[in-house]
Amino acid sequence: MNLHPALTAGRTAVITGAASGVGLAAARRFAGLGLNVVMADRDADSLDEAAAAVRAAAPGAEVVALAVDVAEFDQVAGLRDLTFGQFGDVAVLMNNAGVSGGGNAFQNRDGWDRVLGVNLGGVINGVQAFTQAMIDQNRPAAILNTGSKQGITTPPGDTAYNVSKAGIKALTEGLQHTLRETPGCLVTAHLLIPGFTFTGMTRGAPDKPAGAWTASQVIDFALERLTAGDFYILCPDNEVTRDIDNARITWAAQDITHNRPPLSRWHPDWKAPFAEFLERQIPKS
Ligand SMILES: NC(=O)c1ccc[n+]([C@@H]2O[C@H](COP(=O)([O-])OP(=O)(O)OC[C@H]3O[C@@H](n4cnc5c(N)ncnc54)[C@H](O)[C@@H]3O)[C@@H](O)[C@H]2O)c1
Repeated sequence: MNLHPALTAGRTAVITGAASGVGLAAARRFAGLGLNVVMADRDADSLDEAAAAVRAAAPGAEVVALAVDVAEFDQVAGLRDLTFGQFGDVAVLMNNAGVSGGGNAFQNRDGWDRVLGVNLGGVINGVQAFTQAMIDQNRPAAILNTGSKQGITTPPGDTAYNVSKAGIKALTEGLQHTLRETPGCLVTAHLLIPGFTFTGMTRGAPDKPAGAWTASQVIDFALERLTAGDFYILCPDNEVTRDIDNARITWAAQDITHNRPPLSRWHPDWKAPFAEFLERQIPKS
């Protein structure tokens, strides 16, 4: 398969949150394609281990690891300077570092700062630090920001996480609009929306739950959809199909257009209507 033109051997990918999960799977995949890989993560010990694993899996690949807290703009600007200094190129920027455990709307103030600072602040920092320099290269390049279905359907539980991911969605949509309005711009932006994926974030049990995808499945899907030119890279998993996602997203948007209570999907009065709606939306096989 011919991949997106940014995914060319000898070019360079920068990945945040690269010590684990989706970011680590991306680093392995990009190194395997012959790209130089710059792996950034706050967890320096895991990062060194992860970089060694990527080097072992892709001998000959140029793999650089840098301890970076994405919530700090100066550190993200340092990541940009190191990458351009060493490779003179950024073909792929994957703003992927993320944490959960924020909390509901009126609790855990510190958790809110942490989740918004890393998830949303980290992506803003990446976009602000790298985008103009990537445009100025005049070569095909892609920015992938990792969002979440929780930023679209906003389920109950971790409201801080939902807010951070809804912010990433709005930021990335605005970024892509600006890029496509910029004359001659060869950089595109994409919103990666993983489904349930077995990673450090979701690893409650030692074994992957049947419903979850592996991180490398997410990356395989992301590269296929990136190459097809998709902006919204909406991943299924082993339980949630594209039709189910489409129905849930439509229902969430219709909370507004049909004047229902928010999060009606989880409201006892709307349980049955939602189940009927889902039934109608899913094509019978
Ligand atoms: N796992 C899922 O089911 C799932 C679903 C939807 C979205 N996501 C998103 O995917 C992305 C990757 O998460 P994952 O599931 O691979 O989890 P993970 O915990 O395996 O990986 C996240 C990585 O981010 C790093 N990180 C955390 N804070 C950081 C900071 N301030 N600076 C730099 N690095 C930092 C962590 O050290 C870790 O290595 C996240 O943005 C997450 O919100 C995951």
